[in-house]
Amino acid sequence: MRMPISGKTQIVGVMGDPVAHSLSPAMHQAAFAQLGLDWVYVPFHVPPDQLGRAVKGIAALGLRGVNVTVPHKVRVMEYLDEIDDEARVIGAVNTIVHREGRLIGHNTDGRGFLRSLELEAGCDPAGKTLLLLGAGGAALAIAQAVAAAGAKSVVIANRTVKKAEELAQAVAANTACKEVHVVPLDAADPRMLRAAADAEIVVQTTTVGMSPHHEAPPVLPAALISPEAIVVDIVYNPRETRFVQEARARGCRVVTGEGMLAFQGAISFEIWTGHEAPSLVMLETLRQHLDRAG
Ligand code: ATR
Repeated sequence: MRMPISGKTQIVGVMGDPVAHSLSPAMHQAAFAQLGLDWVYVPFHVPPDQLGRAVKGIAALGLRGVNVTVPHKVRVMEYLDEIDDEARVIGAVNTIVHREGRLIGHNTDGRGFLRSLELEAGCDPAGKTLLLLGAGGAALAIAQAVAAAGAKSVVIANRTVKKAEELAQAVAANTACKEVHVVPLDAADPRMLRAAADAEIVVQTTTVGMSPHHEAPPVLPAALISPEAIVVDIVYNPRETRFVQEARARGCRVVTGEGMLAFQGAISFEIWTGHEAPSLVMLETLRQHLDRAG
């Protein structure tokens, strides 16, 4: 049970449109309860034409910060006082912290991904060869994070090769990782076959496999991946995608998508409260809610 709300209760939340389905309130409330913090996490339904006024309200009302979700992650940047390097490179903000009247934007997706690899597979990407399937916003956050964490090489495979090339350029320009390559996402292409066989970590970031199209064939057959590889699918609905099932059957160690979701929240929690988040409590809460919803 949460503490009664009083004048001392600290307020954070999430701004989105829609926002009613968000599982973040449950995750953060569980974390506050675990640490005995007198904080509350509120969903705020903010339509696009109210975004600027809502963001100004963070400082006016003395909120400690908010998460920002679809469709506001890019446009919200124009209303902030400061944007950290990670969010600037990714071009999107998912966390705002309010410090003495100033609003600072962060993006915790990449660090959430790294924590998921660490806590769920005991894996540090430093020195490793990575294959990323997809080149959207999530892929950019992940590519940046693993490259900055010292990955030996990052290969990006995408249906639209031009988008993969843009992502590769961004990663090469912003990190010390100089081995960034692009291959077409085509199981018949020998460059794709070599990248799949060589990768030590494979991360599926496309929307393929997401409910209600969970029967759709994966963008890359798991049979092409080394059984020694760690395979991550950032899709969390369904909890086990067909790609994850095929990779597990192949003998790969697998990591499902709810970890990245839970841990990007854990890092927001740490930015706001200054306390180490109870990451696994947040993950367990998220899983319970996904099970109930699914
Ligand atoms: P996000 O920002 O959440 O990562 P996104 O920017 O819409 O989402 O990116 C979706 C990714 O899924 C892209 O890499 C997209 O490939 P394209 O760049 O070629 O569009 C990929 N994707 C979506 N549907 C796909 C499909 N049927 N086959 C292969 N890739 C697909």
